[in-house]
Amino acid sequence: MANEDVDQERRRFLVTATSVVGGAGVVALGYPFVASWKPSAQAQAAGAPVEVNIGQMEPGQLIRVQWRGQPVWILKRSEEMLATLPKLEPRLADPHSAVVSQQPAYAQNQHRSLKPEIAVMIGLCTHLGCTPNYRPDVAPDDLGPDWLGGFFCACHGSFFDYAGRVYRNNPAPTNLPIPPHMYLSDTTILIGEDEGVA
Ligand code: FES
Repeated sequence: MANEDVDQERRRFLVTATSVVGGAGVVALGYPFVASWKPSAQAQAAGAPVEVNIGQMEPGQLIRVQWRGQPVWILKRSEEMLATLPKLEPRLADPHSAVVSQQPAYAQNQHRSLKPEIAVMIGLCTHLGCTPNYRPDVAPDDLGPDWLGGFFCACHGSFFDYAGRVYRNNPAPTNLPIPPHMYLSDTTILIGEDEGVA
């Protein structure tokens, strides 16, 4: 009997946790959101790897999931977004990902990812841990005519490009971290594990 109670409580927790994460993504981003990720019971309870289905993602779309209590972003970059990466290098603090602690070796490239079009990053500002906003709008009034799109942390004003690379002389000292991850198939990413990739 007691075990049944525990199981029911656990199920309720998992359903609630999944709903909260999905809802937060919709509210915070204001951009298309795909609730196509599959956290296992282990992932929720112990921070185990999380599988994410990216098969339905559109260019420009951002999916937000949780791994080990942290927001992880998966961004499908369009051709236009990828084209901004080399242009921005002179304005970045660490354009070549020289700070090795911020990404696995397989993401130490211009797009900071395994596949150029898919970015996977931890969505916490490296200054004091706020969550930056996704700002794909080009040259908006509040960010200025030079803004080509990326992420903006409104807490103290740090700018990041579509690869999570921070602009020079910003409060954030380093690029956004890239979590360990690997592809289980063309449409499924495993966040939190990269066995055999490195
Ligand atoms: S927490 Fe992002 S700029 Fe301070």
